[in-house]
Amino acid sequence: MNKLGFYRDNSKNLFVQDLNVNALATKYGTPLFIYDAALIENIFLKIQNAVKNVDGKIFYAIKANDNLGIIKFITSLGAGADVVSVGELKKCLKVGMKPEKIIFSGVGKDREEIEFAIKKRIKQLNVESREELLDVIEIAEKFKKNIRIALRVNLDIKAKTHAKISTGDEYSKFGISSKEILKVCNFTKKSNYVTLHGLAIHIGSQIFDYSLFYKTYYELEKLANNLNKNGFNIKSLDLGGGFGVDYEKYNFHKFSELKKITEKIFHNKKYEICFEPGRSLIADSGILVTKVIRTKNSRRKSFLIVDAGMNNLIRPTLYNAFHRIEPIKLNNIRKNKVVDVVGPICETGDFFALDRKLQEMLKNELIAIMSTGAYGTVMSSNYNSRKNAKEILIYKGKDYIIKKEISFNESIKSQIIPSF
Ligand SMILES: Cc1ncc(COP(=O)(O)O)c(C=O)c1O
Repeated sequence: MNKLGFYRDNSKNLFVQDLNVNALATKYGTPLFIYDAALIENIFLKIQNAVKNVDGKIFYAIKANDNLGIIKFITSLGAGADVVSVGELKKCLKVGMKPEKIIFSGVGKDREEIEFAIKKRIKQLNVESREELLDVIEIAEKFKKNIRIALRVNLDIKAKTHAKISTGDEYSKFGISSKEILKVCNFTKKSNYVTLHGLAIHIGSQIFDYSLFYKTYYELEKLANNLNKNGFNIKSLDLGGGFGVDYEKYNFHKFSELKKITEKIFHNKKYEICFEPGRSLIADSGILVTKVIRTKNSRRKSFLIVDAGMNNLIRPTLYNAFHRIEPIKLNNIRKNKVVDVVGPICETGDFFALDRKLQEMLKNELIAIMSTGAYGTVMSSNYNSRKNAKEILIYKGKDYIIKKEISFNESIKSQIIPSF
């Protein structure tokens, strides 16, 4: 195996490692998510290399893909985790991740979640408001357990990204205004169990303008220095994730810029530096293979109706997101055709691409929706009583099933018919 990710052989069939994607789809059925562990590892090493001179630590943002097989693999590379729910936290523990490698973020942790995290002695709780801090203090006192916290700061920085994933300005629900942070820090002095260990920030996802990261990291460090001058003992800076993935290109990133920025700001290694990449680590490593159920030509449009739907991948309709679409077998003789690639769901929003020029495809042929490793299956649903897609991980040339499809019978069994 010498190629990374998805590539074509001489007969123009799509491959992953040494495995033919067509054969995998025949074996497992469609729709099918396929992930390449080698590509995840390659990107992980690139991020690690970018931050190694500042001793940066990587905490994979589980929300990007919370499949147990994926978490286990990324854990085996040495990453910790950034979780945003007790469910994600339990998944990390289930695959053997140590609690001291887990950061718990999120704007709405409930009491049960805070209690669980404190009892498990995780690395750090990232607190997003004065109100949450008071809850954490109360719960830690009640159980007489220590917990390290970081305060998530809102520096009022607007990330140039889709409005739904921009989290850094003061109109968003995230973080504590830098203008109020000193006041909130003072509350931590009241507790014998809660230690203010760090500051955290995450200004959004899909960010390509790295000058925004520079500004964010620079200002966060300045704030930490000021707080320490005021008698606090901030030791750690959690810089979040957000590194953009170019869905039109493949395996494209700007980690060399990240390296320059972090070395410029943190060369003195005054603080422990943490990163929480999600999308950039996993997006390109996954594809969604789907079969053409039928083609349909109407007066105004041509459609490829495929067996995956927006319940399997909602990004195109939710964010108007672009995903490359490729035939599993390239056929040089076929002409290209402009089509809408749509699913079977009863909504016009159920599409993967509109007016896309693709090699002409026929009934029962397969296409791959590319770069669907992040925020793909995690956002799936059973809308229209549809099944989830199966998922497989390709590791050292072998295919491992990491998610079964939930059968219709099981799904029916999980629901209760009331006796009215
Ligand atoms: C707190 C936090 N950290 C990290 C991430 C991961 O972001 P990305 O997937 O863009 O790297 C997110 C995503 O929303 C987040 O909310």
